[in-house]
This record gives sequence, structure tokens and C-alpha cells, in this order.
Amino acid sequence: MPVVSKLRVVPAHIAQRERQTVRTQIGIVGAGPAGLVLAHLLHLQGIESVVIESRSRKYIEERIRAGLLEHGTVDLLIETGVGKRLQREALTHHGIELRFNRRGHRIDFNDLTGGKTVTIYAQQEVIKDLVAARLEAGLPLIFEASDVSVHNFDGANPSIRFRVAGKAQELHCDYIAGCDGFHGICRPSIPAGVLTEFERIYPFGWLGILAQAPPSSPELVYTYHERGFALLTMRTTEVSRLYLQVPYDEEIDAWSDDRIWSELRTRTAADGNWKLNEGAIFQKGITGMRSYVVEPMQYGKMFLAGDAAHIVPPTGAKGLNLAVADVRIMAQAFAEFYKTGKTELLDRYSEIVLRRVWKAQRFSWWMTSMLHRFDTDNAFDERRQIAELDYVTSSRAAMTTLAENYVGLPWD
Ligand code: FAD
Ligand code: DHB
Repeated sequence: MPVVSKLRVVPAHIAQRERQTVRTQIGIVGAGPAGLVLAHLLHLQGIESVVIESRSRKYIEERIRAGLLEHGTVDLLIETGVGKRLQREALTHHGIELRFNRRGHRIDFNDLTGGKTVTIYAQQEVIKDLVAARLEAGLPLIFEASDVSVHNFDGANPSIRFRVAGKAQELHCDYIAGCDGFHGICRPSIPAGVLTEFERIYPFGWLGILAQAPPSSPELVYTYHERGFALLTMRTTEVSRLYLQVPYDEEIDAWSDDRIWSELRTRTAADGNWKLNEGAIFQKGITGMRSYVVEPMQYGKMFLAGDAAHIVPPTGAKGLNLAVADVRIMAQAFAEFYKTGKTELLDRYSEIVLRRVWKAQRFSWWMTSMLHRFDTDNAFDERRQIAELDYVTSSRAAMTTLAENYVGLPWD
């Protein structure tokens, strides 16, 4: 088949010759948390990789997403030398509040998990730290790659083809890591019939804002209200991050700043001297919610990690943390292979990581089901949800279950 190159139509075998080829050990598609943490862990093990990202550096460093890190994610970033700014700037949290029927109930992580904590540090800050570390070390990270495609991963000679500044390139590698998120090209490149998909789509999404307002409460507040869920979180001591449950097909234009504040005030209302801090909204957007997993998370010489293989609804903040947990195991498996020639861990990659993935799916689904209104006419569901919240905030066993999942289950 002819290939269009520099506005000339050339036969495929000539296009092949014009393509600049490079070799590495691991070809990584995607510079999100999964791809960048993987590249970093591989570098520390002396394994070469090239990261290929379709967006610009500025875009990925400004993309607003998650903000809550499990204690294991934080430990990993610190232990591997990319946690210095995080240690200076991040906010450590020892508990959360669940609020319903106008009353708050604290879940004390310190007490329930033997001193574990969670940390507020925005995803784009993690990305900035990882990008800086990689570029300072002079390691390859290619931005603004287009026409990215993966080849021969079911055989002995996997490769990634892409274009940068109009030039065709081919990266030959031993293995491909598909870290390109839910809408990436790696998962759909696996032949039909290999993967099984598991999915649940929710009839609502989250409207998220960033506001120039000090957090109203020192800890996160998860609120159940008859009008829907609301979450008060933060980015810094000066900036609040706030979320509202909205219908899945809601348009952001339907939400003026006044309407957002009014709805937040209503849903988070509490007895006592509670007051919602308000300020200028400088970012807003709506995210749909789904639970999604593919099995297996590997095929031939390609391994999937993070959102490329699974999506969780955001309640409980597991998405980013799960991406890091996947690549931690993937890096160990590659390290074992390059040190010993054994593929035992690589062969079991999917089986190992899916155990954690499904536990995070269960927890995120459970938090979502407990805290959101599914069907506003269903009085039975409302009573059941209140009973569940009452139980979770009064039984030490139930609080412990929530706390140990929230701070992050132990790494295997
Ligand atoms: P991603 O972060 O998606 O990274 C994938 C990378 O691959 C991206 O940089 C992308 O540009 C790149 N890419 C895609 N296609 C290609 C291609 N063809 N070639 C090369 N590169 C490609 N989680 C929470 O816990 N709390 C939240 O509040 C929260 N909010 C979110 C809001 C939004 C809008 C989204 C989309 C996700 C949110 N998440 C949240 C989830 C969390 O951000 C993700 O779980 C996390 O980013 C997963 O990391 P990842 O590296 O697997 O994927
Ligand atoms: C954040 C997001 C979440 O989904 C969550 O459960 C807690 C915190 C956040 O963006 O800070």
C-alpha cells in the first residue's frame, strides 16, 4: 500500500527505508502517571526505555485531574527520589469526614490503620516532577508524537511507529508498555477475541471546580444529600477543589458560578457553625463515571497499565494510585527478566495486578453506590443508603474497612 510522505506518494518499502529507526528495551506509549513512573522505575533498575507521548509537555503538565495519593504511592515517589517537592508542598491528611443528615462523622485513619495517611498533591504536580527528573537525567521522552501505532507485539520484534515534526520514526523494542490511557491505541490494537471487557456506566458524572478559596474544612468532606453527592477537597491551603454529582449528560454551560455555589451550600449544609468558603472559580469541567476492566492486561509482548486497562469512578480517588500500583509490578517483572532471563513474573503480570485492580473497583463502586443518588424517586434506596452510612460511621469494623481501602491496601 502506498504511504504519503512529505507530500510524495511512495511505495511502502521505500517509506520503510525513510523511517528513522531507533532501538530500546522497553517502548512506553503515554506520559501519564503510569508511563512516567514506569520509565523512572526502569531507569533505576538500569533498564532503557523511550516514552512516546501524543500531547505537548505544557498540556500534560497543566491537565487537571486527580489529587489524592495513597500512602504507598507517596512512599514510592519519595523512596525513588522524585518526592522532594511533594514533601515540601503536599498536604498530609489523617482522616476524612462523611456527612449526611446535616452531621459530620470523622473516619480516623491514624487510629484505624496504624498511622497511615493520604496526601493531597495534584496529579499535574506529580507529572511535572517526573518529567523534570527524566529530562534532567537526559533520558528520552518524546512529546507531540502523532500517528502512533504498535506492531509485531505477538512476535519477536515489537515496534512502535510514530511521527514527530513530520518525520516518520520506528522504535524497536523488546517489550511495549501500553500506558496511553482509556482512549489510547494500545488496548484496541490487541486482536479481537483476546480481551474480555467488564463495564458499568453510571447515570451521573462529577462537575469539578477549582476555586480561589481556602478549604472550608481541614479534611476532605464526602457528603450524601437528597439532591446528590458533593465532595469538598483541596489543592493547597489557598485553593479548594469541589465536586458535585450531576446527570451524566449535563452541559457545563448550565452551571453558572452562582448556581454551583448555591448547590454546594445546600448539599454540604450542616448543623453547628459550618460555613462553606467561597471564592473565584478559575476552572470547571464535567467528567463521566464508569467502572471498566479488561482481562487479561497483557498480550504477547505488550503489557497494559493504568487507565489503558481499567477505569474506576472517582469516588475514593483510586485511578492514579492504581496506575502506579500496576507499573510497580511491571517494573519488577522487567527487572527480573533482564537480570535472570526468566519470564515468570512477566507471564503472571496480569494475574497479579488484577487482584488489586478488582479490589479497587469494588471499593470505588461501593463508595459511589453509598454516596450518590441513583434514582431520586426510590425512597427504599435512600433509607438503605442512610442506614449504610450510619453503620459505616458507627461500627469500628466498618470504619476500618473503609479506612484501610482508602489509604491504600498493602502492596503485595
Ligand atoms: P493517563 O493519565 O490518561 O495518561 C495517558 C497518557 O497517554 C496521556 O498523557 C495521553 O495524552 C497519552 N496518550 C493517549 N493516546 C496516546 C497515543 N496514541 N500515543 C501516545 N500517547 C498517548 N482520578 C482520581 O483518583 N481522582 C480524580 O479526581 C480524577 N479526575 C479525573 C478527571 C478526568 C477528566 C480524567 C480523564 C481522569 C480523572 N481521574 C481521577 C483518573 C486519573 O486521573 C487517572 O486514573 C490517571 O490519570 C491514570 O493514569 P494513566 O497514566 O494510566 O493514564
Ligand atoms: C479528590 C478526588 C477524588 O475523587 C476523591 O475521592 C478525593 C479527592 C481530589 O481531586 O482531591
